[in-house]
Amino acid sequence: MSQNIYDSIGFFESYSKYPRMEKGLAGASEWPLLETMLPSSLVSKTVLDLGCGDGWFSRWALDQGAKAVCAMDVSQNMLSRARALSPPDRYPAITFRQVDMETLEGQDGGLDPEANDVAFSGLALHYLVNLEAALRQVFRSLRPGGLFVFSVEHPIFTAPQRPGFQKSGAVQDWPLSSYFAEGEREVDWLGTPVRKQHRTISSYLKTLRTVGFEVVVVDEWGLNMGVEVRDLFGLRTL
Ligand SMILES: C[S@@+](CC[C@H](N)C(=O)[O-])C[C@H]1O[C@@H](n2cnc3c(N)ncnc32)[C@H](O)[C@@H]1O
Repeated sequence: MSQNIYDSIGFFESYSKYPRMEKGLAGASEWPLLETMLPSSLVSKTVLDLGCGDGWFSRWALDQGAKAVCAMDVSQNMLSRARALSPPDRYPAITFRQVDMETLEGQDGGLDPEANDVAFSGLALHYLVNLEAALRQVFRSLRPGGLFVFSVEHPIFTAPQRPGFQKSGAVQDWPLSSYFAEGEREVDWLGTPVRKQHRTISSYLKTLRTVGFEVVVVDEWGLNMGVEVRDLFGLRTL
């Protein structure tokens, strides 16, 4: 079972004040770039939203004409918020499921094979210890020619063993000496110890290729280094 930090009340209350929770799509600063990686039309497509949070991407996909969206998250808090924001009379074709991506394969035999045209995941995969197993499931769930678009926290942020700026005189440095030491990092985030998995960019790329994806586009988004940097991937099944 994953850490499921979003189900700890204090953390969830603080996280709920983040712009992406208050404004949805308009508050997700990486969205304009991610949108360019998605198909130009979602009409009649079947879509998977992994680590859906409050479901803003799922609602957007349905508004774009998707036939059905399956939205999954491990957090009951997030799913309750997502359901409240997606009333069935307005969003009848979104199905919300409580799923731990860490153990996708073991749950009901895994994701249905070749059931989706598009898979999406926003800032969730860097929590997974067994990323390869989850990606295998995503790959298997896509039809030939399907697309997987996702964002993760940029590895330069997860790299330090003790995340935080180091002051050297008037300059502040972000330590990257442990960039190549992959593995778990514990970060104090909103007053809570949060576990994330650090991987190098090449490690993400290798794992994606190992499970069968063709990497179409990789991009980095950032306002500036002190604020937010994301890695964004657009992938295609063959
Ligand atoms: C930073 S939030 C992003 C939510 C949303 N995708 C967005 O872009 O705003 C990360 C989400 O991933 C979910 N998550 C983390 N680990 C997960 C896991 N093992 N299985 C399913 N969901 C997970 C969290 O519960 C949370 O809703």
